[in-house]
Amino acid sequence: MKIAAISGSLRAGSSNTAVLRAAARLAPDGVEVMQFEGIAGLPFFNPDLDDDNVPAPVGAMREMIGSVDGLLISSPEYARGVAGVLKNALDWLVGSHEFPDKPVALINTSPRATHALAALRLTLETMSARLATDACLTLPLLGGAWDEHSIAADPALAEPLRVAMERFAAFISTVQA
Ligand SMILES: Cc1cc2nc3c(=O)[nH]c(=O)nc-3n(C[C@H](O)[C@H](O)[C@H](O)COP(=O)(O)O)c2cc1C
Repeated sequence: MKIAAISGSLRAGSSNTAVLRAAARLAPDGVEVMQFEGIAGLPFFNPDLDDDNVPAPVGAMREMIGSVDGLLISSPEYARGVAGVLKNALDWLVGSHEFPDKPVALINTSPRATHALAALRLTLETMSARLATDACLTLPLLGGAWDEHSIAADPALAEPLRVAMERFAAFISTVQA
């Protein structure tokens, strides 16, 4: 089973990117989590370019989405909204045939960031994602200097993350059965 992880933060020390890398380490056997690194290289969404010849980075992202069984997304909240880079990537997927019905789980690294999470859920529902609600998780990483190693080594963080990944893999298996 393959899962793509998408972080909405471009920050080098990003907690959202760190938690996705930790999730890859804690995923059940047989589940490969690959980090999508191309989000910053996507052009701004333009419906005029959303035709049979989409820009190469968009085509590559769509191909990647088509090749995985599920998506794991973690995004910061900026000004009570979803990070622009993530929303831009999702806008490029609205018209794709790869995205609809794709299983998606969300990780939120800040308990106070409720607005972006709600907006992201609404967008994903609108895009016909299959949201794995039981596998969505909020962890209190805001303000800490976390990396994938320290998250994976802290039982209070690693255990719920491990369970969330197990639940997400089970959800994907059920959807595909
Ligand atoms: C410009 C800016 C706006 C922000 N707006 C909010 C906000 O509206 N609500 C919130 O809870 N946090 C807000 N934050 C805090 C970020 O969501 C928080 O620092 C987040 O953990 C950053 O994620 P990262 O560590 O992956 O980069 C904001 C941060 C920045 C830089």
